[in-house]
Amino acid sequence: MERELALEIVRVTELAALASAPWMGRGDKINADGAATSAMRAMFDSVSIRGTVVIGEGEMDEAPMLYIGEQVGSMNGPEVDVAVDPLEGTEIVAKGLNNAMSVIAIAGKGNLLHAPDMYMEKLAVGPQLVGKLKITDPMEVTLTKAAEALNKNASELTVMILDRVRHEAIVKTLRKVGVRIKFLSDGDVAGAMAPAFPEAGIDLYVGSGGAPEGVLAAAALKCLGGEIQGRLMPSDAKEYARCLEMGIEDPYKVLYMDDMIGTEDVIFAATGVTPGEFLGGVRYLPDDRAETHSIVMRAKTRTIRFIRALHYLPNKSLLQK
Ligand code: FBP
Repeated sequence: MERELALEIVRVTELAALASAPWMGRGDKINADGAATSAMRAMFDSVSIRGTVVIGEGEMDEAPMLYIGEQVGSMNGPEVDVAVDPLEGTEIVAKGLNNAMSVIAIAGKGNLLHAPDMYMEKLAVGPQLVGKLKITDPMEVTLTKAAEALNKNASELTVMILDRVRHEAIVKTLRKVGVRIKFLSDGDVAGAMAPAFPEAGIDLYVGSGGAPEGVLAAAALKCLGGEIQGRLMPSDAKEYARCLEMGIEDPYKVLYMDDMIGTEDVIFAATGVTPGEFLGGVRYLPDDRAETHSIVMRAKTRTIRFIRALHYLPNKSLLQK
């Protein structure tokens, strides 16, 4: 993939973020998501790829746009797999909370795991802990190993996890060991990426979240030099069968970085919708300007670009359905 593609896709996440931001705090996650999805879909037409959506808004019969299998791009350029989440954190935007982003990952065809829509158990770390931990270890062991590798006491670790009832047992263990916990309301792509940003002050991301979000986080962490390990959690026979249909022969096997992203040729872009651990949100400024904060990265070179853009939006009503 040409390196210019990185800058082309960040335009797409910027536009999706700008489209959903007016819905911030209006208690309407459906319209917040719809605005981001329409904007992202329209902008994709100008991106120089022959793309197939492998992670998107759902199956063809349940999503009008950016559904799995949809062809996107200008149809000139490389044949690629596309993973999108036009609005990662719909509830966040509805409630005006933190860490919502618009996200895209692109890799050469056949290189992104077609993750089924179900939960995935996750363990994500930054560069210092790569190769040092195992998702199959009991949580106490993971924390001891992480503390040793970081040359800290376990009580000095900070662990991020989605604030969910299903995490009660993990949280009990984290409390027993005495780590600091940073709970996320939603948005675990940002959560899993956070340990790769020293300024976020997060050592580990643990717990379960969406499997598609796990693959998006894996693309980001490949560029950031971090790591995520995952394990699908099919909850019934239907979900188990869905894994097999999507080509995952052993649904319970540990998925490592290379299982989720089969190439170094991957590009990741995200634009903040609301402020987060490493990206600012959309801000409205005087003179019809809106400011966006994005990150765009390529795994091949491991270049990480933070892009602050001032968009000119004259005579536009904020809310466009
Ligand atoms: P949406 O943007 O689709 O609402 O997803 C938000 C999210 O928090 C993801 O980041 C996360 O992977 C998933 O939901 C967790 O699911 P649940 O809310 O069921 O725990």
